[in-house]
Amino acid sequence: MPSDIHERTGGQAVRRIIYSQEDIARRVAEMGREITAWYPPGEDLLVVGLLKGSFIFLADLVREIARPLHVDFLVAASYGSGMVSTGDVRLVYDPEASLADRHVLLIEDIIDSGNTINRLVPMLEKRGARSLELCALLHKRIAPPLAREARWVGFDAPGEFLIGYGLDHSENYRNLPFIASL
Ligand code: IMP
Ligand code: MG
Repeated sequence: MPSDIHERTGGQAVRRIIYSQEDIARRVAEMGREITAWYPPGEDLLVVGLLKGSFIFLADLVREIARPLHVDFLVAASYGSGMVSTGDVRLVYDPEASLADRHVLLIEDIIDSGNTINRLVPMLEKRGARSLELCALLHKRIAPPLAREARWVGFDAPGEFLIGYGLDHSENYRNLPFIASL
């Protein structure tokens, strides 16, 4: 474990590091290469991050995508402060950018119950994007068939509550450079 971990968590111990900073960097670079190769050159690509959880993943991922792109964000509030999904998804912020006739790549931190994706994808599908694909850093693989399955997944995650690298528990721990279970 990194030596400053207790300074970062405010003294709280984490159970176990699941993905180290190096594991994540290696996988994000691979995903960036796959995404670069997949999109036709010369066509508009808009990368849309679901806030807040995807902010670190998106920041690292777009720097591994070697082609022109634009970035925007969307805020869908799904979880309360606890660890259990309520199934409720609200759009709190809608991207400024038009999706019409552009390739849209939606970036999620983690797919758990699939509720967020299942509510969002039908809303976004109405906006006339040239393509709509999903990229998730983590997938717990417990969701029933999704409205749209992720084309790119960083890691199949264990069924534990994970924190770090953007993932929070009650807004804490987003700044951990690795992913751990709480
Ligand atoms: P879903 O709607 O149940 O698929 O969950 C999606 C959202 O719930 C994610 O974007 C996360 O913000 C949050 N979430 C799900 N599982 C975890 C976890 O293990 N740690 C932290 N946040 C989680
Ligand atoms: Mg969250």
